[in-house]
Amino acid sequence: MIEFDYRNIKEEIIGSENGLNIEEEFNKYSETIHRIISDLNSKKDKPGQWLQWMNLGYNEETIWYVKEYAALVENRFDNILILGMGGSSLGSMAVCEALLPPYWNFLTKEQRNNFPKIFFLDNIDPDQMNAILNILDLKKTLVNVVTKSGSTAEVMAQFMILKDRMEQELGDDYRKNIIATTDKNIGILKQLSDQEGYKTFYIPDDVSGRFSVFSAVGLLPFALVGINIEEITQGIKDMDLALKNTDIRFNIAAQNALIHYLMDTKKGKNISVMMPYSYRLRYVADWYCQLWAESLGKEKDKNNNTVNTGQTPVKALGVTDQHSQIQLYNEGPNDKIINFLRVGEFDTNLEIPNIFEYTGISYLGGKTINKLFNAEADSTMASLIDYKRPNVTITVPKLTPYYLGQLLYMIEVQTAITGALYNIDAFDQPGVEQSKNYTYALMGRVGYEDSANELKAKLSNPIKI
Ligand code: PA5
Repeated sequence: MIEFDYRNIKEEIIGSENGLNIEEEFNKYSETIHRIISDLNSKKDKPGQWLQWMNLGYNEETIWYVKEYAALVENRFDNILILGMGGSSLGSMAVCEALLPPYWNFLTKEQRNNFPKIFFLDNIDPDQMNAILNILDLKKTLVNVVTKSGSTAEVMAQFMILKDRMEQELGDDYRKNIIATTDKNIGILKQLSDQEGYKTFYIPDDVSGRFSVFSAVGLLPFALVGINIEEITQGIKDMDLALKNTDIRFNIAAQNALIHYLMDTKKGKNISVMMPYSYRLRYVADWYCQLWAESLGKEKDKNNNTVNTGQTPVKALGVTDQHSQIQLYNEGPNDKIINFLRVGEFDTNLEIPNIFEYTGISYLGGKTINKLFNAEADSTMASLIDYKRPNVTITVPKLTPYYLGQLLYMIEVQTAITGALYNIDAFDQPGVEQSKNYTYALMGRVGYEDSANELKAKLSNPIKI
């Protein structure tokens, strides 16, 4: 199992001003945590609770359909292109980056065992889009358009450009190069798929975008590039079993949830940094940022009180950001909790050759780069302790599908428990919907005329100094 170490948030390590008397807090919150975990598990099958993500590891039917389709198109495409925003792409990107060899798209077809390259288009920067269109041979590209609502402006605009180009280049056959991943009942993409006959995968009800990585949203791209999805779901199931334990002393998701909640509400640590010491896990930090921000950043609690909750999530990468952000983390405001994300065993052991005599660098020769990497992580942690900065460490034994399933599921459960501690709805996103609606208004969507006029007035009156 992945491991969780919270020693460095204890008051005996970093002092009572910044640290917690964690045993006392575990005791104080044991009933609350017991209730929250029992609640999550008893409500997860009920419609309208938005907890279906807790069942995704057990969805044999989706696994079957995904594997069937992946087998059907094996060797047919050179590229997979995923169109999707936020939750519709970040999880897939995080897992692909973690499990595929680095620089996958630069490897030869043989080095990729004949699996396709994979590209994620999660922006609508015209230059980026144009570049993708110039790079990809659309005849050999499978485009997967992913949108739960089936109407997000950015994704649908991307899709309209792609569909048009594909039709021009492929003629009527273009349909075979398109997959839609969307809601079963609602949305324009669903209607379009039915009409045009695209292969379609469904995102189950009550799974919001940022919790959808283990639905077809993620499982399909994973299977298409040869990632073992059954190992992923085995990891989820084993972690789910462990996290059903309602005793906080044995539940790592509950422990990190409570630690974050108390650090924010009692110790003023309103920033949560995710810092993987693994280049391959860097997008897990992006995925975490979205999950933490969108789930916990809420104006109202469940009783409609104005609460404005949520820690600001920040991503950092070891060792890169030691030379960028650590100065601030050590000596700037003591307002952060740092989550180190470490890997027990890397796939590679790389020795540094003993080629120089200079005493300033000769100590490196004959050691492994792995040892240096770990020493850097240990040193960063030790310096944070010196400066009395709270930090926790999550260790993934190895970057395998099994452990990635465990890791992401554990963080999802942690997020849900933290939401319950704040007494907010962790599964809605009214703040995102508001700006989506403004975009519709500005782009002239029917039904949004009043907001459009109001907005035009606001935007055309810049403050003059
Ligand atoms: O987590 C969320 O709900 C959001 O980030 C959505 O995933 C994102 O806005 C895209 O929405 P949709 O999948 O409906 O296109």
